[in-house]
Amino acid sequence: MLSLKQLSKEYLTPQGPLKLLSNISLSLDQGEAATIMGPSGSGKSTLLFILGTLETPSTGEVLINGCNPFDLSQNQLAKFRNKHIGFLFQDHCLLPQCSVLENILSPTLIAPSTNNYRQRALSLIEQVGLKERIDHFPSELSGGEKQRVALARAMIRKPSLLLCDEPTGNLDRQSAASVADLLKEQHQNHGSTLVIVTHSSELASRFSSKYQLNNQQLLQTN
Ligand SMILES: Nc1ncnc2c1ncn2[C@@H]1O[C@H](COP(=O)(O)OP(=O)(O)O)[C@@H](O)[C@H]1O
Ligand SMILES: [Mg+2]
Repeated sequence: MLSLKQLSKEYLTPQGPLKLLSNISLSLDQGEAATIMGPSGSGKSTLLFILGTLETPSTGEVLINGCNPFDLSQNQLAKFRNKHIGFLFQDHCLLPQCSVLENILSPTLIAPSTNNYRQRALSLIEQVGLKERIDHFPSELSGGEKQRVALARAMIRKPSLLLCDEPTGNLDRQSAASVADLLKEQHQNHGSTLVIVTHSSELASRFSSKYQLNNQQLLQTN
């Protein structure tokens, strides 16, 4: 489902080239869940952004569902990303002026209108335990509740790939456990391929494939 071959990434900075990823290979089946841990600054977010087609590799190949997204035009790429990839960031990134329901529906604004996304949004709101908060605005929610809305938004289009960058990093222990439970539940119910970057060994312990990013290399640790 997801395949990286000989992927490298370096940034050109005023101080010279900054090499972050060197000849990384990774292959994940549909429905597989992988966690990536590693020191701050090792390039975990950069790798996740490349998987999410938000950042381009310097060399190497990325295949998602057999497609090299970097061969697509900008317009095709935006549609591909919207259809196939869900994102959950450390900061929920909700639209402050939109309600819970509107936030969850926001990725469907450019989707074909044949699906009943409203029904699906209502079901997701129930699954993440926010039925009573449907018309609330982000400023009226706790950090954990906002992240649960962000998870429902990430799942609205049933992405084949869900990418999470430190999804529990800003949360207290109890909220983090609740988001981790919901993430596990969504993964089991829907079968998206899941990649989670995290500093939390508690979160990583819930998923089967574990990787470590260190010194530009990605190594499987289980
Ligand atoms: N666009 C960029 N240009 C130059 N350097 C960058 C850019 N994006 C990230 N970096 C640098 O790359 C390094 C790795 O960043 P990041 O992928 O965010 O690491 P991590 O998520 O593991 O903490 C950091 O030193 C960061 O400053
Ligand atoms: Mg990061």
